[in-house]
Amino acid sequence: MARERWSTGLGFILASIGSAVGIGNIWRFPYIVGANGGGAFLLPYLISVFLFGVPLMMLELAVGRHLQTSVGPAFRAIGKRFFPAGVAIVAIVSLILSYYLVVTSWVLAYALFFALQRPVDFDAFTGSFYPLVFFFLSGLIVYATVRSGVRQGLERISRIVIPLLVVILLFLVAFSLLRPGALEGVAYYLAPDVSLLADPMIWGAAFGQAFFSLSVGMGILLTYGSYLEKADLFRNATVIAVADVLIAILAGFMIFPLVFSFGLDPAAGVNLAFVTLPTVFAGIPFGWVLGMLFFAMLFLAALTSAASMLEVPVATVIDLYGYTRQKATLLVFGAIVLLGLPSALSYTGLRLELFGTPLFDLSDYYFGTLGLICSGLIVSIVAGWFVDTEWLFGELGGSPRMQRVYLFLVRYCIPAVLFATLISQVFGIAA
Ligand code: PFF
Repeated sequence: MARERWSTGLGFILASIGSAVGIGNIWRFPYIVGANGGGAFLLPYLISVFLFGVPLMMLELAVGRHLQTSVGPAFRAIGKRFFPAGVAIVAIVSLILSYYLVVTSWVLAYALFFALQRPVDFDAFTGSFYPLVFFFLSGLIVYATVRSGVRQGLERISRIVIPLLVVILLFLVAFSLLRPGALEGVAYYLAPDVSLLADPMIWGAAFGQAFFSLSVGMGILLTYGSYLEKADLFRNATVIAVADVLIAILAGFMIFPLVFSFGLDPAAGVNLAFVTLPTVFAGIPFGWVLGMLFFAMLFLAALTSAASMLEVPVATVIDLYGYTRQKATLLVFGAIVLLGLPSALSYTGLRLELFGTPLFDLSDYYFGTLGLICSGLIVSIVAGWFVDTEWLFGELGGSPRMQRVYLFLVRYCIPAVLFATLISQVFGIAA
């Protein structure tokens, strides 16, 4: 059977932006900036995105485009002994998806509750069995998207979602900036505390956030690249990264002015999106419309990211076993729902915990933080060191000097940075 293809270059770029732009941009980025030195954080962040994130994106895209296959078989083609590493990446993405779906489902539930003008209390909500219902519901939407295929599913949904998301975001930003006291929020968000740049933890936070936000190092771009005909990979990776950064920065202009105009605490974490912002919306006339728009936007962003994660194992199963997309999606999705159930149930009445920590929080740390970094390490080492540089540069182009700089970045700098981030994360938790 002929390989599926994007219908146009723009379709591919929108789908990749759909993968990158997610909960990480709209909710995680603003609070990480706020908590890590405000505007000064943008410096390590932009360095990590453009110096490390974009070259790694190009590497993944080049491998997928050249080999025309997904992660498992691509790693096997690079060298038989790398097949288990490819399988490890597929497993990590599946595990990340299993808990990312839980947050996605909370967001969907909030959007619906706001639309019905029913106030939600986070503890009461997560303590009930509603999250389970929404876990299946949002899972089904992601499943239906991937089952519909590259063009009819991933590409079509991103063509609708990305423009819609930008319109909603711009509207919410304009609304927030017009609130009294908005400037105080902007000041908190962006006032640079340059002294913090000497703190290595800030750099670790910037690298971690950049790789998470760009969806890089997870085999997603490798898989998306395998549906490409020839393309300018440098330009594509840059466009995707710029869009991702702009949307993240814009999100902060929406969140902090709102929070400050109500004199609330811009505390980090789950509370900001699920407790603080709903309190804000409850205090504004027609706030339910804003709440509905905000959570609908967050859901759309999460949906396209989750679908891109599901595509990684599905494509590998299709390419390895020759299954139809329908059969592969059903199988993989079934497995991911089972994997996600413990996280989905961890805040409910069942309180699934291990050593006193909810399983959801453990998944977030072990899969979403450590797993993600390990996967980036595997991709950069296997693809950076063991692919044939001749075909790699055939895909990437550039002058011989640029190619040398590129190899240095990909072979030494990116693994070193990822390794340092891994250590800082482990150490940060232990400290
Ligand atoms: N980039 C997504 C976000 O910013 O929410 C999250 C994500 C997607 C992380 C895919 C990892 C991944 F493999």
